[in-house]
Amino acid sequence: MAAVIFDGVTKRYGDVVAVDDLDLTIDHGEFMVLLGPSGCGKTTALRMIAGLEEISDGVLQIGDRVVNHVDPRDRDVAMVFQSYALYPHMTVSKNIESPLITRPTVVEGSDQPRKLTKAERAERIAEAARMLDLAPYLDRKPAALSGGQRQRVALARAVVSRPAVYLMDEPLSNLDAKLRAQTRAELVDLHQRFGTTIVYVTHDQIEAMTMATRIAIMSQGKLQQVGTPRDVYDAPANLFVAQFIGTPPMNTAPGKVSGDAVVVGESRFRFAGRHDDGRDVVVGVRPEHLTIGGDGAVKGVVRHVEWLGYEALVTCEVGADAANRFTLRQDASATPPAVGDTVPLQVAPERVHVFDAASTERLGG
Ligand SMILES: Nc1ncnc2c1ncn2[C@@H]1O[C@H](COP(=O)(O)OP(=O)(O)OP(=O)(O)O)[C@@H](O)[C@H]1O
Ligand SMILES: [Mg+2]
Repeated sequence: MAAVIFDGVTKRYGDVVAVDDLDLTIDHGEFMVLLGPSGCGKTTALRMIAGLEEISDGVLQIGDRVVNHVDPRDRDVAMVFQSYALYPHMTVSKNIESPLITRPTVVEGSDQPRKLTKAERAERIAEAARMLDLAPYLDRKPAALSGGQRQRVALARAVVSRPAVYLMDEPLSNLDAKLRAQTRAELVDLHQRFGTTIVYVTHDQIEAMTMATRIAIMSQGKLQQVGTPRDVYDAPANLFVAQFIGTPPMNTAPGKVSGDAVVVGESRFRFAGRHDDGRDVVVGVRPEHLTIGGDGAVKGVVRHVEWLGYEALVTCEVGADAANRFTLRQDASATPPAVGDTVPLQVAPERVHVFDAASTERLGG
């Protein structure tokens, strides 16, 4: 039984289609990340699961139940928002306890959700506090906490009710880099220890790649691809996904298929597999798969070198069009070429991505 199923789900606000005919099955125990740029419909999709947005079209299921018209309180989900609204007059402990007081809680070994006893509540608070390192702060008020600590209280408040599905909307975006990395690890740990189903919204591809069991990538309300981090990285379904995932992004240039290669100006990018001769395509190569050397089938004129200490980013013009700039990552110990040099570039054929120029869909070869 799946945890959440979107079946042709659409959400319209007047003329705006925020989520467009979404088909997505989230399995039990998955850490599913909804990833995409601002305005692509991630929050709307999440709020529909929570029951905070009406569904314009389609069917939404949680477990084996259609929930289109089920009250948010009866959905057995807990949501953590980007702006964590804690109760300022309550202690951390009372804040964490609040969902256990306001509604019946699912309890192991009992068919029906019920109110917890005081002792049971205390045990759940202690466990959540231990998990999120909040034990020393339980008697403080939120005003006496750092931003990161407050965010962890918001997470703890979601954790205590042990819902069937956790819904998280950019819960780390207010944290500094160090705390974000730490909390990322805590979330992964939480997921692994309890096997909980998490649906997590972010526009940050690093969060998606490091935490997700699967990523659903959206653009303009439409689902672009669903897959493991490795799937979407190694075989992006279209140009949007190819350029959204990876830093620096995948290098791309328009070209034409000729024999076993895509021709871009003077350069030939040999690919694995077969494509129709003369087809207009876009060739894509990730910066880590491009190196200096080889037989000169691809040539670049060095335009820019950035030395970052652990590596250098070398940007070259390939082909006749100055807009076709390809960046490669070079080990920091290697001597970077000089700006203005013409260098041979190489990439293994199986690392060359080919997309249809018109549809932008990946061509399997
Ligand atoms: N209440 C509303 N009324 C009208 N349009 C809305 C409403 N809520 C969202 N939208 C529109 O729906 C689209 C999707 O919004 P949504 O908040 O789901 O995006 P998002 O992917 O979460 O973006 P962000 O990363 O910026 O949070 C946007 O174009 C947005 O302007
Ligand atoms: Mg949002």
